[in-house]
Amino acid sequence: MRISVIGCGYVGLVTGTCLAELGHHVVCTDNDPERMASLKAGVVPIYEPYLDGMLAANCRANRLSFSIDAGEAVRTAEAIFICVGTPPLETGDTDLSAIDNVARLIAAEARTPKLVVEKSTVPAQTGQQLKRQLGHYRRNGGAEFRVASNPEFLREGTAVEDFLHPDRIVIGVDEEATERQLREIYRPILEGRFHCPMHLGGCPPTHSPELLVTTINSAELIKHASNSFLALKISYANVIADLCEKVGADIKEVTRAMGLDSRIGPRFLAAGLGFGGFCLPKDVQAFIRLAERTGVDFSMLKEAERVNKRRIDIFLEKIRQALWVLKDKQVGVLGLAFKANTDDIRFAPSLEVIRRLLAEGAQVRAYDREAMDRTSVILPQIQCCREPYEVARDADALLILTEWEEFRQLDWERIHGLMARPLVLDGRNLLEPKAMMKRGFEYHSFGQPVETVTARFVPPQISKVSEASVSA
Ligand code: UGA
Repeated sequence: MRISVIGCGYVGLVTGTCLAELGHHVVCTDNDPERMASLKAGVVPIYEPYLDGMLAANCRANRLSFSIDAGEAVRTAEAIFICVGTPPLETGDTDLSAIDNVARLIAAEARTPKLVVEKSTVPAQTGQQLKRQLGHYRRNGGAEFRVASNPEFLREGTAVEDFLHPDRIVIGVDEEATERQLREIYRPILEGRFHCPMHLGGCPPTHSPELLVTTINSAELIKHASNSFLALKISYANVIADLCEKVGADIKEVTRAMGLDSRIGPRFLAAGLGFGGFCLPKDVQAFIRLAERTGVDFSMLKEAERVNKRRIDIFLEKIRQALWVLKDKQVGVLGLAFKANTDDIRFAPSLEVIRRLLAEGAQVRAYDREAMDRTSVILPQIQCCREPYEVARDADALLILTEWEEFRQLDWERIHGLMARPLVLDGRNLLEPKAMMKRGFEYHSFGQPVETVTARFVPPQISKVSEASVSA
């Protein structure tokens, strides 16, 4: 099928590339000329595992191309996927101006019938509005528009796999013809015949995903309801972690046992600094606003948001308790991205932690294998290092702010020797408290109380820890 994708951000690039991988002919367009120039030159402006290789392969196969000419992209397509940004407004509502612009563009340029698919995350009832706009601004008699909502459930860092091997595909439609066309688009995935390309392991999918056909309003709501539920789950785990600290329990033991109950499930129960990124925080806000506008009491979700904001305060308090005065302390930061396997720092908890450290006079050195360039632009006061060991040198404390696997594998004995004081505050519960204490570190995390660990395991180097703490 001839498909155009409007918007070449995370969602648009992954969607366009994966649709081409399924065998469609895809043109991607964006109104950012720099981004388009870079894509035309084969340079992918974001870090997303597997994306650049797959993008290049599909360009070579002439199934994928990039064009600055959005009008042409609209005219040639049978189906148009809208993947433009829907950022939050000051009020917490969603800024739908980019969707509105695209609707008017499609209406003005289309000469033949089009399926217009809403992929961007939008509040319920946006599809109805989109349909109206397409009708109001339609210029060419032959252009009939069908609208569908097809929310994405792509996690940054695993977006390509999530697209090709999804748990479910949701299509919100109001006509059978629309359903048929979308089934056709996703057929290789739905029939379970689609084998991942070699660079994804070459394995057949373990299951065929379920296709859910819903109304457009339901499909839109499913997206916000899913992301908000994930946020609730994370905040719930974080409050349990606080309770664990108070009663001397261990959050990892508690959530592991909870997660084995198939009604609860093990994922999104990792306690720590809380959720960040461009999706969960903004979708929670937008869902709260939707509830407010429609007169539904969703204070439960407001509480999840409040709990999430408090994570930073609690972490800062842990840092102050361990370091006492922050002024003139050398603090090393491992991890800047809002989560592992991405270079995205939008709404990353790390940024707020660093801002507060700087405000209290600490000196910050940081390392993140993907996110340093972006961070240096907005936080030029921090010193970015080429490797984690440089961050540790003479540091009074080392903070883990992103759960990169790389940090688990570091030579922690070497780091111990480099630091002015072997103090680690693990904002992502990445490391094993017992192992860290055995290596002689003073180690703090969330919901794994130091007392409990010490009581069960007294490491031989414990006196070294206290001596080091005193001398520092
Ligand atoms: C999220 C959803 O998971 C996707 O399904 C959705 O498609 C996407 O938003 C979107 O709306 O486009 P993403 O923003 O990539 O995906 O990130 P998540 O993996 O959901 O993580 C969000 C945040 O929660 C991260 O800061 C992560 O560190 C944190 N988190 C996650 C926890 O603190 N604990 C957990 O157990 C899991």
